[in-house]
Amino acid sequence: MSTFGRSLSHKQRALTVSSPRLFDKSVSSPRFSRKSEISRLFRALIAIGSVVSFFLAIGGGYLYVLPNLTKSFHEENLISFNGSDSFCDIFDGKWVVDNSYPLYNASECPFVEKGFNCLANGRTNDDYLKWRWKPRNCELPRFNVYHMLEILRNKRIVFVGDSMSRTQWESLICLLMTGVQDKGSVYEVNGNKITKLIRFLGVRFSSFNFTVEFYRSVFLVQHTWSSKYGIKRVRSTLTLDKLDDISDEWINADVLIFNSGQWWVPGKLFGVGCYFQVNSTLRIGMSIQTAFRTALETWSSWIDTKINPNRTRVFFRTFEPSHWSNLTQRMCNVTNQPLSETNGQESSSFSDAVLEVAHSMKVPANVLHITPMSAYRKDAHVGLWSDNPSLSDCSHWCLPGLPDLWNEMVFSYLHDSYQHTSLYQQRE
Ligand SMILES: *[C@@H]1O[C@H](CO)[C@@H](O)[C@H](O)[C@H]1NC(C)=O
Ligand SMILES: *[C@@H]1O[C@H](CO)[C@@H](O)[C@H](O)[C@H]1NC(C)=O
Ligand SMILES: *[C@@H]1O[C@H](CO)[C@@H](O)[C@H](O)[C@H]1NC(C)=O
Ligand SMILES: *[C@@H]1O[C@H](CO)[C@@H](O)[C@H](O)[C@H]1NC(C)=O
Ligand SMILES: *[C@@H]1O[C@H](CO)[C@@H](O)[C@H](O)[C@H]1NC(C)=O
Ligand SMILES: *[C@@H]1O[C@H](CO)[C@@H](O)[C@H](O)[C@H]1NC(C)=O
Ligand SMILES: *[C@@H]1O[C@H](CO)[C@@H](O)[C@H](O)[C@H]1NC(C)=O
Repeated sequence: MSTFGRSLSHKQRALTVSSPRLFDKSVSSPRFSRKSEISRLFRALIAIGSVVSFFLAIGGGYLYVLPNLTKSFHEENLISFNGSDSFCDIFDGKWVVDNSYPLYNASECPFVEKGFNCLANGRTNDDYLKWRWKPRNCELPRFNVYHMLEILRNKRIVFVGDSMSRTQWESLICLLMTGVQDKGSVYEVNGNKITKLIRFLGVRFSSFNFTVEFYRSVFLVQHTWSSKYGIKRVRSTLTLDKLDDISDEWINADVLIFNSGQWWVPGKLFGVGCYFQVNSTLRIGMSIQTAFRTALETWSSWIDTKINPNRTRVFFRTFEPSHWSNLTQRMCNVTNQPLSETNGQESSSFSDAVLEVAHSMKVPANVLHITPMSAYRKDAHVGLWSDNPSLSDCSHWCLPGLPDLWNEMVFSYLHDSYQHTSLYQQRE
């Protein structure tokens, strides 16, 4: 019950925040009352309106009492992942102040790496922690840790990608730990510490029998050190038609969340002698965009052939915008407030490629299209409050912070996706 109580009050809060639109309506209504006919019509409308809202209120009562109805309500109205549903695209919205955030304290979570714990690294302004994402036409269900722990029971959640995936992995673990009494029951399966280059980290929630894993695979496809081409500047290749050699480990996950993009830049490829290879042929002239697209197609056919859609929920997170003022000089200033404009950063050719490729897959892949919402958040980067205070960083994000909201989106999807499973049957 507490779930729905919370989400209702959450809705009310959102209404107060977005009240300007309601206000507009009441301001314009006196115009109608001048002409008596229109006025009569208007009164009739109000009467109908109040009858409708009476039934809505009754309906609301039922929703409150009967979780079953709430479920279908959520399914039909709240969640849409492909962006075309005119009623609700959860990625189209705005940031609103919400003082109930943040949802955890990074200093009390052993799985936040030092470099992302901005408050502990000396950030004093904490306004950046108080924002909630409000989709235009609906609400995201508020993250309910007890509900999420039950949803994930007996499952395997796997993040694959670069450091942005590692951040979201850390965020999810910390969000979930707020609902676990015995913190010692949550541990890394190999006793490993979080480092930047580590290939695998797996955190087990032993009392709930699930693990939240991270595989570092910055390009998703296979990277090979090789001089076999006899071209001096070619020191390594990305085999664009073969997924990373650790990909077999991802197959039996229940939830699979991918990202890639941050490493597809000249400095991290050609600059270090890394070129592309397709069908055993070196492709020296291939552009990064074409290569990224080819890698994504390899990924999508791998998903289509290896993943059982009855078991695994697949997500791909789109490009995470950065906010450098000059990347070559590594200059940037983190702001105290989100930007009021996205300044063109709401789109990215990497995100477009993900949206297009995901659209033509057999196995449904949910695109977490977080590029627009993140484009506003110049205030959410680690800046100088990282583990290297001599260099500003406007790529990575503070924890708690923006990645928590990405996880709320995953939660909202899983919340609906698993609603017909044993979790609910057990409770009823
Ligand atoms: C979204 O889904 C609807 C039907 O579910 C489909 O008609 C539409 O083409 C999809 N749009 C995108 C952008 O994937
Ligand atoms: C977070 O936890 C640390 C350690 O328990 C504490 O010192 C700090 O005040 C807490 N911060 C917030 C914002 O509550
Ligand atoms: C733990 O989860 C696995 C599936 O991931 C399942 O096979 C096993 O039976 C579960 N163990 C218990 C004690 O429920
Ligand atoms: C890959 O190479 C083989 C042999 O050179 C060729 O027959 C085949 O058409 C190539 N496939 C693609 C997709 O280019
Ligand atoms: C998935 O479930 C459906 C319906 O239960 C079944 O027909 C289908 O064969 C299953 N697919 C796989 C790959 O197991
Ligand atoms: C960034 O700094 C470099 C080196 O000082 C300079 O050449 C370049 O024009 C700057 N770029 C922008 C966008 O300001
Ligand atoms: C960043 O802030 C510092 C100090 O406020 C200022 O001197 C500098 O010009 C700012 N840099 C940019 C790129 O806005």
